[in-house]
Amino acid sequence: MPGTVIVGAQWGDEGKGKIVDLLAQNSDVVCRYQGGPNAGHTIVVGEETYKIRALPSGIVRGKPCVIGNGCVVDPEVLIDELDRFPDAEVYLSGNAHLIMPWHLAIDQASERRLGKLAIGTTKRGIGPCYADKAMRLGIRVQDILEPKILRQKIEVALAEKNLWLERVYESEPFDLETVAARYEGYAQRLRPYVADTSLYVETALRDGKDVLFEGAQATLLDLDHGTYPFVTSSNPVAAQAAIGLGIGPQRIDRVLGVAKAYLTRVGEGPFPSEIGGDEQARMRELGGEYGTVTGRERRCGWLDLVALRYAVRVNGIDKLALTKLDVLSHFGELPVCVRYQTPDGSETADFPAHQSDFHSAAPVYEVLQGWGEPLDSCSSVDDLPGAARDYVDFVERELGVEVTLVGTGAERTSVLSRT
Ligand code: GDP
Ligand code: IMO
Ligand code: MG
Repeated sequence: MPGTVIVGAQWGDEGKGKIVDLLAQNSDVVCRYQGGPNAGHTIVVGEETYKIRALPSGIVRGKPCVIGNGCVVDPEVLIDELDRFPDAEVYLSGNAHLIMPWHLAIDQASERRLGKLAIGTTKRGIGPCYADKAMRLGIRVQDILEPKILRQKIEVALAEKNLWLERVYESEPFDLETVAARYEGYAQRLRPYVADTSLYVETALRDGKDVLFEGAQATLLDLDHGTYPFVTSSNPVAAQAAIGLGIGPQRIDRVLGVAKAYLTRVGEGPFPSEIGGDEQARMRELGGEYGTVTGRERRCGWLDLVALRYAVRVNGIDKLALTKLDVLSHFGELPVCVRYQTPDGSETADFPAHQSDFHSAAPVYEVLQGWGEPLDSCSSVDDLPGAARDYVDFVERELGVEVTLVGTGAERTSVLSRT
């Protein structure tokens, strides 16, 4: 039975949480394979709104949840979520890396130092934590199982980090005793959840269970395939599900991309189809486009099919969920970016391979007709206004990928199936 990746196909916040919540109903296990509490996945259930950052979104359906080795874990955030779901069945990889207080401090200080060149990170310590992992200086979840080792690793790390903090960033150093005591406390709480998650997931798949691999962030924020350097420090793309969970690539049976019917981006970096002027603010208000983690205003733009075509390619997306179609109900005309124009006047349908070409890309729009009526009363795709159906058909045709789910509202049940 299938292992299914749910991957963000744009710059994040596509509504992955809601789609995972939907599919989790008929799944046995839900896993996160990368990222950390930079993620903010929202699930609206009646009057209740869940904002999930560390656990997989399947937790709301009470499914067994896995945090894989490819993730970075802020114990404080995770414990807070575990407190909110006391009956949760959670398996936490011992190989996942811990976000330490100096990661947060360095993330903040380095953004401050970059000034105008800042990336606009969530300041949750993600980049510095993954950097330490690559430097082989990281502290892993399994280290909390052995207090002596934990203390020793904190001591070694602090010897270097405090120098950086004080001399390079002119920030406050950390005290060994305070940090060690704090993390020893977290250790008591997290110890019961630490497991061999690679074995757990592989066994579930071998037993024919349905497993969801929930991506955080998204394709254009991918460290290798995104709009570097304005990216996150992990690999959200689908193939990472194998590495970030410790299973073979053939265990990925299906890749479901999630895209908004328009486009948003939080943080800095180029954005060809970004809307200018008041209309951007209007879309932000209508779509409630404010960051789940940081509360920042999300930048808003029209759907970019060049970027989406690229996401289909680098993830191997075979089906697409198109969310937030309802937000477009308020616009008379709907420009959709179908190609980029380069400074020499030529046009391309392929995402530029080099940063300068992307920075200077101008969107070429095809303008589709709006439908001008709310979608809340639509209980099947047949109820959608003709122009809304045409919009979805157009996306499908341009991408050569079936759109199987259409989002018509934030509520858990506001999603239409097209199969
Ligand atoms: P994620 O990070 O990909 O899980 O997405 P976020 O939760 O950060 O942002 C998506 C936002 O859109 C959340 O506030 C969702 O409740 C909301 N949302 C998801 N799907 C739909 C939809 O089809 N229509 C509307 N109006 N809102 C949606
Ligand atoms: P979900 O899972 C949108 C962005 C930040 C910044 C860049 C690097 O909710 O879709 P980081 O803190 O990761 O080093 O920041 O990535 N970013 C996100 N944008 N949704 C997210 O997660 C994001 N996680 C990180 O705004 O531009
Ligand atoms: Mg989000």
